[in-house]
Amino acid sequence: MSTPGISRRAVGIQESPIRKLAPLAAEAAKRGIGIHHLNIGQPDIPTPIEFWDAVRSNISTVLAYGPSNGLPELREAISAYYGRSDIAVDPSQVMITTGGSEAVIFAMMGTCDPGDEIICFEPFYTNYNGFATLADVRLIPVTSSVENGFHLPPPEEITSKITEKTRAILICNPNNPTGTILTDDEIAELADIATANNLFLLADEVYRDFAFDGRRHSSVLEFPDISQRAVVMDSISKRFSSCGARLGNLITRNEELMAGFLKFGQARLCPPTLSQYGATQMYNLLDEDYYSSVVSMYQDRRDILMEELHGREGIFFLKPEGAFYATIRLPVQDTDDFAAWMLRDFSVDGWTTMVAPAAGFYATPGKGTDEIRIAYVLEEDKMRSALGILKAGLAKYVSTR
Ligand SMILES: Cc1ncc(COP(=O)(O)O)c(C=O)c1O
Repeated sequence: MSTPGISRRAVGIQESPIRKLAPLAAEAAKRGIGIHHLNIGQPDIPTPIEFWDAVRSNISTVLAYGPSNGLPELREAISAYYGRSDIAVDPSQVMITTGGSEAVIFAMMGTCDPGDEIICFEPFYTNYNGFATLADVRLIPVTSSVENGFHLPPPEEITSKITEKTRAILICNPNNPTGTILTDDEIAELADIATANNLFLLADEVYRDFAFDGRRHSSVLEFPDISQRAVVMDSISKRFSSCGARLGNLITRNEELMAGFLKFGQARLCPPTLSQYGATQMYNLLDEDYYSSVVSMYQDRRDILMEELHGREGIFFLKPEGAFYATIRLPVQDTDDFAAWMLRDFSVDGWTTMVAPAAGFYATPGKGTDEIRIAYVLEEDKMRSALGILKAGLAKYVSTR
């Protein structure tokens, strides 16, 4: 008896390029090789004690469902967090989600019908591909370039991609995988395009706290002309080094859209209750010192990246402005091959470095094949050693091709 074939969606959904080298990493580990992971955005800093205290103090007999849009005290705490940046967000404009990932999926599903299009800037956070498959929407890429630090291309390049199926523009600001922070003028330009073409502006701002060199990140929520078009996707994964808590949130001032999000939320009942206790406590108790110490730690790591790689033979990138990523051009033709070679064939004193080939962050075939993404999530000594091994590997790889 034959079994039914699985869906086109299940066959077609992309495998994460961040994880696809994992089997080679596992083989290297089996051979006793240590691996510096610059390939994945898993912060190494401890989850604040406030999280664990809140979880412990809420132990009771039943771990119950909570409201579909999240615990009121957490929505209030998030409203207060935005208030500290002078951004007025009412708790009713916040919906708690199961990770920033669910926030992006809900944003896509709430603004698009199946087959509709969203314009986004490549390279982009690679899981947007998977989210788009789940939401049955098409991502239409506009290419940005390492040459200008991945800032916006000219407006005509964006507007030329708009069709009658376009429903939204999606940005990630500060950006994963590039570390770029859009200027106010750039956001205003996108707001104008969204208004002129009746589109939503979806902003993934999960790295909004991580802005370097005294920069201030601007949220799409600060542009009053698009208050009904703007949707923010946010998360505690990186803000509080709490990736496993699986908590994020949506923010919109568009009541109709929020009502739609709430119905999606009801279908999956509620976000994780226990994590919400912890998140509420972190939002309420962590002060400016916490945020500034984390930012300065990432900025220091960014500076190490600059010292070790910037201006080195054949390596090109501009100084990252925020988040904790850089997309870097290498003097090689195929970084998929280079990244695999590093794991298979290269080590220094029993260690190698794992990076993410950047092609998987582009939707246009053939783009980004000479670029890698680095996540600078290791402490100083490990960062220097990881980057030293990367440089030595690159020199050897280039010399033998
Ligand atoms: C840009 C961006 N958006 C969304 C997410 C997903 O976040 P979460 O862990 O909250 O689902 C990530 C995670 O790395 C990310 O980098």
